[in-house]
Amino acid sequence: MPKTPTLRPDLADLEPYDPDMRPARVILTANENNYGLPDGVRAAVDAALSEVPTNRYPDATSPELRRALGEMWGVPADGVVVGNGGDEIIFNLLLGFGGPTRPLVTCAPTFSAYELYAQLTQTPVVRVARTESFDVDEAATLSAARDAGLVVVCSPNNPSGNLVSPAFVERLADQTDALVMVDEAYGEFADDGSSCVPLVAAHDNVCVLRTLSKAFSLAGARVGYLIGSRPVVDGMLAVRLPYSVNRFSQRAAQVVVERRAELRPPRGARVGAGPRRAPPRPRRAPPAPRPRGGGGGRVGGV
Ligand SMILES: Cc1ncc(COP(=O)(O)O)c(C=O)c1O
Repeated sequence: MPKTPTLRPDLADLEPYDPDMRPARVILTANENNYGLPDGVRAAVDAALSEVPTNRYPDATSPELRRALGEMWGVPADGVVVGNGGDEIIFNLLLGFGGPTRPLVTCAPTFSAYELYAQLTQTPVVRVARTESFDVDEAATLSAARDAGLVVVCSPNNPSGNLVSPAFVERLADQTDALVMVDEAYGEFADDGSSCVPLVAAHDNVCVLRTLSKAFSLAGARVGYLIGSRPVVDGMLAVRLPYSVNRFSQRAAQVVVERRAELRPPRGARVGAGPRRAPPRPRRAPPAPRPRGGGGGRVGGV
């Protein structure tokens, strides 16, 4: 009688991811953009896709897309790595820079994928609790980071929306040897000046995750990216599956990034450092979605 295959014992309790999507007037469960691309951008994407060859593998290093993303941020193309959504970026970060001897520090409650991928890569997790207002406990995080291989801070945080200050991320990077990843999946919904991308140039151990799934209305294409120093980007390129971002997604993403000026601005839904107040009621264009947690599956923190 052949033996029944079993999962690794440390993964025995894992269940397949199911976002449990149900029909609803407004779907919020996965924090997607509830609005599609504007007609002109959509037409440009469709035209570009019709020319994509189906018989050739994708370009493994996505040079055109990395160039477009680099231009958007004013960083070199080789300071950017793309992935099959931000999800793959998080997984590859843990694969390449985590592992059994390099603990991951998280600021809980936060996006649940960090712990899931830590488990898959046998990376120990140190959870530092956020304060009562869900801000990062800076002193406790700094102290935990001293023994960590990786620190992930989500800003705006899923599920609470809190920002982390670039000044604190800089202190983390200066005072520890950990690689600090700031997850800015919802960065377009935050005030100008809150991104940690400008820290990357002077800090080899800071990197920033962004995605086209939210403000860019491209969740279906699965394109995320990381901006980091050469050692981090080169490490990510070394561990990633070469064809994880397919030709269609690379091309669609490039068009959307190049035509980003035509996208609906995420106004009326901003997350800022100042006092919380209700977003103003839009007069014409409906507001873009605000980062939220809760709901189902992977979106919520805990
Ligand atoms: C905080 C955060 N980071 C990363 C992601 C991954 O996004 P994607 O894989 O669609 O790029 C999500 C998705 O909901 C998220 O909430």
